[in-house]
Amino acid sequence: MVRDKIRFLRRGRVVMYGSATPTRTVLDYLRLEEKSRGTKEGCNEGDCGACTVALGTLRDGRVIYEPVNACIMLMGQLHGKELVTVDDLADGGTLHPTQQSMVDRHGSQCGFCTPGFVMALFTLYHSGKKPARQDIVDHIAGNLCRCTGYRPIVDAARDACTGRAIDRWAKAEKETVRQLQALNDSGDIFVGTQERFLAVPAKAETLAQLAAEHPDATIVAGSTDVGLWITKQLRDLPKIIHTCGVAELHAITDTGDMLSLGAAATYSEAERHLSAIDPDVAEVLRRLGAKQVRASGTVGGNVANGSPIGDMPPMLIALGAALHLRHGNDMRKLAIEDFFIAYGKQDRKPGELVWCLDIPKLKRNEAFRAYKISTGGLPPRGLPMAGWRRHPSAQCVPKRRLPGHRLTRPRLGTPPSEPSYTISSRSPTCGPPPPIAWRRRKRWCTRR
Ligand code: FES
Ligand code: FES
Repeated sequence: MVRDKIRFLRRGRVVMYGSATPTRTVLDYLRLEEKSRGTKEGCNEGDCGACTVALGTLRDGRVIYEPVNACIMLMGQLHGKELVTVDDLADGGTLHPTQQSMVDRHGSQCGFCTPGFVMALFTLYHSGKKPARQDIVDHIAGNLCRCTGYRPIVDAARDACTGRAIDRWAKAEKETVRQLQALNDSGDIFVGTQERFLAVPAKAETLAQLAAEHPDATIVAGSTDVGLWITKQLRDLPKIIHTCGVAELHAITDTGDMLSLGAAATYSEAERHLSAIDPDVAEVLRRLGAKQVRASGTVGGNVANGSPIGDMPPMLIALGAALHLRHGNDMRKLAIEDFFIAYGKQDRKPGELVWCLDIPKLKRNEAFRAYKISTGGLPPRGLPMAGWRRHPSAQCVPKRRLPGHRLTRPRLGTPPSEPSYTISSRSPTCGPPPPIAWRRRKRWCTRR
């Protein structure tokens, strides 16, 4: 069955949305169409968190609420989900516990960032855990406040998030699960015409066929990159195909010595599995974007768009990962380092999709190091990222470097226990910066 409207849950009701503007963001929908203006626009590029909303997703028979940046999220990504915003929280004259604790702890001054913080805390409130201070700090790392300071906000989070949710959403969970199950009924969505459309296929075959028929379409997974093409570069993208509706592409299989990730698995879905490979992988993931970005962004998308500031490729190359690519019904496999053939250029045919990634686990006698360097903490963009795997017998790990990721003085025989490496910034917008001398400075790299 093909539907011409996306469907999502809002305030307990199903919303059918059939606008043929494929690039409509969730923030514009809220502020301009629904006229819910509690959600604010700050940077409009996924960095400040002012636009944070909560997205409820059905996972293992439960509703999981995650914070996402509405400014770079496209409407197609809402299909089959529940959308909760700051305008929904208060119940008549009674504030939600997260709002009340922000008031009690004086967590707001000008208030511009506050709706975003409240929604980030709402998702932490529903996490089912009593967070430690570090958990709270990590959770709100994607929300910036320029006037209050973070201590009162952290205090508010400690007061509100006790590990036991007792609000309207907790009480209505059974009904929400039933409604979300009904929305995720394996029906494909196609809104618009052959020249201008947004598509949210549910079946893997439909997705592969659509991409092959429309090689000029933009493939969207988490929209953490494509969202900026729309809001910052003002690009008109007439054809958008979302991959998030295909359950097969969210699959994560662990065979013991290999992790297989579907290309639409988000960082937050994959985080537990990837982190088990090595503590350095876990630390890099903690520094990658922020909670909002990890809830939307995908490992497959990070590889597929070949961004020179992509975080995962250096680490995946060091781990020896391989890609499966699909064009129509044809599949092929290649080592991930062979996928990147030149700066900004990948070995991907028009209409071909990154389908899944095979990531080998480390063997007992292999050593692995990965570093993402940030100045002043989180969340870093366009800053150095590097990964090493040391074979017990080999003297040199990578056969070649990733285009756009410069590695100078490649003395790679040993992991960086001695300061013998230099890596250069990958940001293409900064021009060629002077090499940054590698120093294992605790201020930059917190390991293990
Ligand atoms: Fe800044 Fe969305 S407006 S993250
Ligand atoms: Fe003003 Fe946070 S209260 S930016």
